[in-house]
Amino acid sequence: MKLPSLKIRNLESRFPVIQAGMGVRIGNSVLAAATIRLGGYGTIASVGLGDIEKSKTDFANESNRVLAQEVKKARELCGGKKPLGVNIMIALSNYRELVEESVRSGVDFIISGAGLPLPLPEYVGNADIALIPVVSSGRALSVIVNAWKRKYDRAPDAVIVEGPQNGGHLGFTLEMIEHPETCSLEMIFQDVKKVMTDMGYDKIPILAAEMIASRSDIERVLAIGYDGVQVGTHFIASEEAGLDRKSKEVYVNAKREDVTVIKSPVGLPVRVLKTPLVNRVLSGNREKFSCPYRCLRTCNPGKVPFCIARALLATWKGDVENGLYMAGCNVEAMTKIYPLEEFFKTLED
Ligand SMILES: Cc1cc2nc3c(=O)[nH]c(=O)nc-3n(C[C@H](O)[C@H](O)[C@H](O)COP(=O)(O)O)c2cc1C
Repeated sequence: MKLPSLKIRNLESRFPVIQAGMGVRIGNSVLAAATIRLGGYGTIASVGLGDIEKSKTDFANESNRVLAQEVKKARELCGGKKPLGVNIMIALSNYRELVEESVRSGVDFIISGAGLPLPLPEYVGNADIALIPVVSSGRALSVIVNAWKRKYDRAPDAVIVEGPQNGGHLGFTLEMIEHPETCSLEMIFQDVKKVMTDMGYDKIPILAAEMIASRSDIERVLAIGYDGVQVGTHFIASEEAGLDRKSKEVYVNAKREDVTVIKSPVGLPVRVLKTPLVNRVLSGNREKFSCPYRCLRTCNPGKVPFCIARALLATWKGDVENGLYMAGCNVEAMTKIYPLEEFFKTLED
């Protein structure tokens, strides 16, 4: 079967693949530009971009400065090709500033989840940018589309459905995560499709984000009815991903039994690898830290067991002892560090 292209608003890519905007600094300008060149949607993760020292006194402006720089660099690296977007989590304290900076920087699309991105259309205004909420249930989507319609007369341009086995933060209860068969991508698709059809949005693409590591994985979710995929975990081991090689090796060597779920300072469960930091947290230790930025609206630095920003920066630097390694259930499919082109070549006819 020839894979279809992916049309979102006035954008189109050869393959139905969005590269997930993985923070911190994994989904950077280099990975996004490579994805666009190879025929997918490239996404820059907007979280944790700023210089650490400068962020201590001017967090929001410093984050904006580096985001604009990353967007510019990505455009240069792929010769101005589209579609280039950003991922901005609603849980971030500087959400509005990041959205407004993305508009100024002229991105093509914004993906927004980790909570309900209710004010996104207001912050984007009249800019010609595709808006793509991330949901894990038809109920969450219904709240978003009804609010957007009522307040802004705006529909989403695509919807991403994250399943219970995906990497990173999870919009499910622990009980559902233990029983993924009760909330599978197939089941969520039926609910999400119904919400979209009832709203008259039946032509708007719906994308699956969970455990996609090969062409056959893509074909499997297209057969359910999805229009494309968002790939996270599997792209972490690409040469182009922004993190240190030592951290890529941790992912490549990980086994399915190394994957676990802990409570994140974001306030949601998060799927991660059992690395030294996670083992310390699981045995009840609290990492001492002071927080000059308040990057998350939901985090209470006096109570949470560790600083997620510091832990994700440690992963980026290759500090295996202190890093947090977010990963999906398909981590074993990553068997080596590989050029991204190798994945995209398998999608050709
Ligand atoms: C290391 C890592 C970092 C992530 N960072 C973000 C992020 O900054 N914002 C976000 O909305 N989702 C984030 N995610 C979730 C991805 O966007 C994506 O939906 C998910 O990885 C798809 O499932 P998969 O990992 O099984 O491919 C992250 C996932 C991983 C594995």
